[in-house]
Amino acid sequence: MTVRIAPSILSADFARLGDEIALCVDGGADWIHIDVMDGCFVPNLTYGAKVIETVRRCTTLPLDVHLMVVEPEKYFDSFVKAGADLLTIHQEAAPHLQRHLARIRELGARAGVALNPSTPVATLTDVIDDLDLLLVMTVNPGFGGQRFIPRSLHRIREARLLLDARGSRAALEVDGGVARDTIAACWRAGADTMVAGNAVFAAPDPKAEIAALRAMCHEVA
Ligand code: DX5
Ligand code: ZN
Repeated sequence: MTVRIAPSILSADFARLGDEIALCVDGGADWIHIDVMDGCFVPNLTYGAKVIETVRRCTTLPLDVHLMVVEPEKYFDSFVKAGADLLTIHQEAAPHLQRHLARIRELGARAGVALNPSTPVATLTDVIDDLDLLLVMTVNPGFGGQRFIPRSLHRIREARLLLDARGSRAALEVDGGVARDTIAACWRAGADTMVAGNAVFAAPDPKAEIAALRAMCHEVA
């Protein structure tokens, strides 16, 4: 298993977004993570299709779009059209989860589900076959730069067991407070895709930081 590093542009300097993305590409990032917040599902507002389209013009890397919004299905068509490769919706915001996942795949994108720290992993048991990605939130969503919740490690292990037991090849992603002091533990617990916002963009050398984060996983491989 090789690790994927997905810098979150939430912590980027938006006055220089193209340059920030170029740094990620040059630094060997695997995916670009784009956080969409609606001020309703989470207490913060960010961006939508226009920014996805802008990032799409800057890179050919897969765009990993994390929808922290109520009624996420309203945005599937426009986000895929804007260039999203993966759409991840929150379990807590989707009573008709299976229908939404099927729709995302029908549009030609990969489908993911995110779990808040208080949502049991087992709630996804019956949609494992519909998933291309399972995102275990390691903070309560809404803001960059928060502290990693240690209990998350148990949840990552549980998610890994669930995916393996079902023979799923879905990515297991972690998001929130992932940095030098937490990334190796996430990798050991079974995560393979690491979102990092603050860790990458607040680093003096974001390119080197991506490499350092990756190396910390490989050291414990
Ligand atoms: C938090 C977002 C994250 C955020 C992570 O709600 O989903 O993707 O950008 O930021 P850091 O890595 O700074 O915790
Ligand atoms: Zn995110």
